[in-house]
Amino acid sequence: MDDRPIGVFDSGLGGLTVVKEIMKVLPNESLIYFGDNGRTPYGTKSKETVIKYTKQDVAFLLSKDVKMLVVACNTVSALALPEIRDSIKVPVLEVIGPGARSALRKTKKGRIGIIATPGTIASGVYSRAILRMNPDVRVFSKACPLFVNLVEEGWWNNEIARMIAEEYLKDIKKEKVDTLVLGCTHYPLLSETIRKVMGDEVAQVSSAEELALALKALIDEKQLGAAQKTACYTYYTSDSVEKFKELGKLILSANIENVERVDVEN
Ligand code: DGL
Repeated sequence: MDDRPIGVFDSGLGGLTVVKEIMKVLPNESLIYFGDNGRTPYGTKSKETVIKYTKQDVAFLLSKDVKMLVVACNTVSALALPEIRDSIKVPVLEVIGPGARSALRKTKKGRIGIIATPGTIASGVYSRAILRMNPDVRVFSKACPLFVNLVEEGWWNNEIARMIAEEYLKDIKKEKVDTLVLGCTHYPLLSETIRKVMGDEVAQVSSAEELALALKALIDEKQLGAAQKTACYTYYTSDSVEKFKELGKLILSANIENVERVDVEN
């Protein structure tokens, strides 16, 4: 048994969608979350910059003595993790594999859309992961960079969000996909807007649920489960604590108390 916390990080608030699922599946695991709101978005930055930021994010969480790391950010999972994974001495989970598996389980017609940040789409990791598992499906990708800003602004379900979604999703819609991977932690918060544009019949997939189950399986396998009955949640952000609390509360549907500002660059 191991009562140490699990470290979770993302480029901003979106990773709280992953935290929410982990809290459901593993209610007595303590979590330390870092949201790099001060440097978000990662998805439009170069691979070198994303790797540099990721090293700092990981070093910060490891300094908090976490027993495992969850990379909630798709862009980090796609661009940086393959480069630095071997140097991380605790078990690490990422979001691409779980998202790909979940999409393949849900699709009926084998026509899968992937939306994500420009960095994730350009890396091709999602298409490769899906086609490796099933070469017979068709995959259609689209980068939707403004979605992250909409979410960080709290514009999840308004007219501006809908118009932007119409524009980004029109080509994927034409391809008659039956499943859409929300390949960015922020996008599940736009789920209602995306549903209005794509229709009820298109299944939306986020990695969060699948990742939480994979995390539970790994904890059981490595016998790293917490013995404690009550979990402790601590949050760090590289930007405004107030804004983090305000939007974080909406994402988690619960008040967030322990939030501290941190400068991971120094
Ligand atoms: N959290 C990032 C991801 O899942 C998206 C936001 C960003 O561009 O920083 O890819």
